[in-house]
Amino acid sequence: MTTPAASFSQDELKALVGQAALAYVVPGEIVGVGTGSTVNKFIDALATVKDRIAGAVSSSVASTERLKALGIQVLDANEVTRLSVYIDGADEIDGAGYMVKGGGAALTREKIVAALADRFICIADASKRVDVLGAFPLPVEVIPMAAGQIARRFEALGGQAQVRMKDGAPLVTDNGQHILDVRGLKIADPLAFESEVNQWPGVVTVGVFAHQKAAVCLLGTPEGVQTLTY
Ligand code: A5P
Repeated sequence: MTTPAASFSQDELKALVGQAALAYVVPGEIVGVGTGSTVNKFIDALATVKDRIAGAVSSSVASTERLKALGIQVLDANEVTRLSVYIDGADEIDGAGYMVKGGGAALTREKIVAALADRFICIADASKRVDVLGAFPLPVEVIPMAAGQIARRFEALGGQAQVRMKDGAPLVTDNGQHILDVRGLKIADPLAFESEVNQWPGVVTVGVFAHQKAAVCLLGTPEGVQTLTY
């Protein structure tokens, strides 16, 4: 007899992986914290052990506000030289641990904090697992005056880039820049793609996380949390 899979909502799957990520938090240390609805569940779980950590380095104004509201001390990224773990969500993750991120427009600070960490622990519901990156529109943070030429470069690669809008105007990131969302790409070689786009003048950050891929993914599935290591 097989056990029927439990029926979890997407929100419950996010809460499950957010809770499971506590196992990767090193007691007495500072933890790197990402951004997004899945990370919000992790932050809520982290608050239950806040007396056992030395604080957090955050990847966005939104996460900083949530951490502080729950009584977790937030340190500036310049105050730390190394983190054991960075815990964050993803918009897509492939079979090698390469990710697309930036749906919440926080990709630049996410890459900065991830770069301080020994290990990237990705927390995601099963809908984020893909074979090839690119189905989710690729976020790219750009200097506004370069948006047009960067969009044309993506068009030459077969993509369609649009400036992300909010309330009728271009969305402005925590860093004062704009986001291009690029549809229609198939990112078969994430490492080479990330390196290439990083060279383009005016690109602040491309939302492919290949050079800083996940070491572990805690994937929320109908059967519970699956731990994938890369
Ligand atoms: C924020 O800019 C993103 O990189 C998020 O990590 C990503 O969009 C996942 O967000 P959710 O957990 O809300 O799906």
